[in-house]
Amino acid sequence: MLDRLRDPFGFGRPGFERHAKDFGELAGLTGQRVLITGASGGLGKAARAACDALGAWTFDASRRSGWDLTDPVRVRALAQELGEVDVLVHNAGVLPTALQRSPEGLELALALNLVATHRLTRWLPAKKVIWVSSGGGLTQSLDVADTFAPPEPYDGVVQYARTKRAEIVLAKLWAKERPECCFSVMHPGWADTPGVSSSLPTFHKLTQGVLRTPEQGADTVVWLCGADVPSGRFWFDRREADPLPVPGVRSEAAEEAALWGRLEALL
Ligand SMILES: NC(=O)c1ccc[n+]([C@@H]2O[C@H](COP(=O)([O-])OP(=O)(O)OC[C@H]3O[C@@H](n4cnc5c(N)ncnc54)[C@H](OP(=O)(O)O)[C@@H]3O)[C@@H](O)[C@H]2O)c1
Repeated sequence: MLDRLRDPFGFGRPGFERHAKDFGELAGLTGQRVLITGASGGLGKAARAACDALGAWTFDASRRSGWDLTDPVRVRALAQELGEVDVLVHNAGVLPTALQRSPEGLELALALNLVATHRLTRWLPAKKVIWVSSGGGLTQSLDVADTFAPPEPYDGVVQYARTKRAEIVLAKLWAKERPECCFSVMHPGWADTPGVSSSLPTFHKLTQGVLRTPEQGADTVVWLCGADVPSGRFWFDRREADPLPVPGVRSEAAEEAALWGRLEALL
């Protein structure tokens, strides 16, 4: 009862512990080539360690390893360096605390969370692609105009959530584009990572003791790497989740088509 009060959505550690009671064994990943963006810290690092332990060959694409994915030249170079992979995990993400722009002038969350993931998906062949979205994305309708030109005054939390909504849509659109591959999108709940403590210090302080470990947050990514699931779906704690659970929040077909058009135009 106390846990339900401290963690009403099940996004925290009590929720994970409750949901994990139903989890089975993770599938082995021997022989799988897995690229995880942003695996230098936080959830990506935890996901990489778990994939390594399951026998995968893994690769980190983060600024620490020389890959700034907001730079399209580096994204193209990364695709060329790897040639193809079995699994591509779009984990690198940012919640900016103030308006920042990428080298090509895009707002930073748009550039990293959305544009870079679309480019890498287009340029690097992969049998499976997994986006790490956010529960925050569930609070926003898909709004392409605002996502590409955030209104003033700039609100990083809202802009982050817009891009995370768009990631949920993008996985569905890619599933239609390439029916021979598997595209998934998940959200990790709330995990204690460097990103959360630096971008959301008050939230981080208030949720001490409730946050998941990075390993718990990364669990569904690792599960999806080895699971045989239908394409284009949204997942949380190894279960399919409703992408539109909040009343009034919408994702309309015309907006979805507009999102695809804007991202294709940036290739
Ligand atoms: N933690 C949570 O509770 C939570 C909740 C919902 C969603 N998420 C999502 O989960 C993902 C991981 O979050 P996290 O909390 O682990 O974040 P984090 O601690 O900030 O780690 C982010 C990772 O992304 C990399 N990165 C940042 N900018 C980059 C760039 N321009 N190019 C390439 N890599 C870059 C960072 O490495 P470098 O600094 O070396 O570049 C780091 O490895 C994000 O997509 C986030 O939106 C997290």
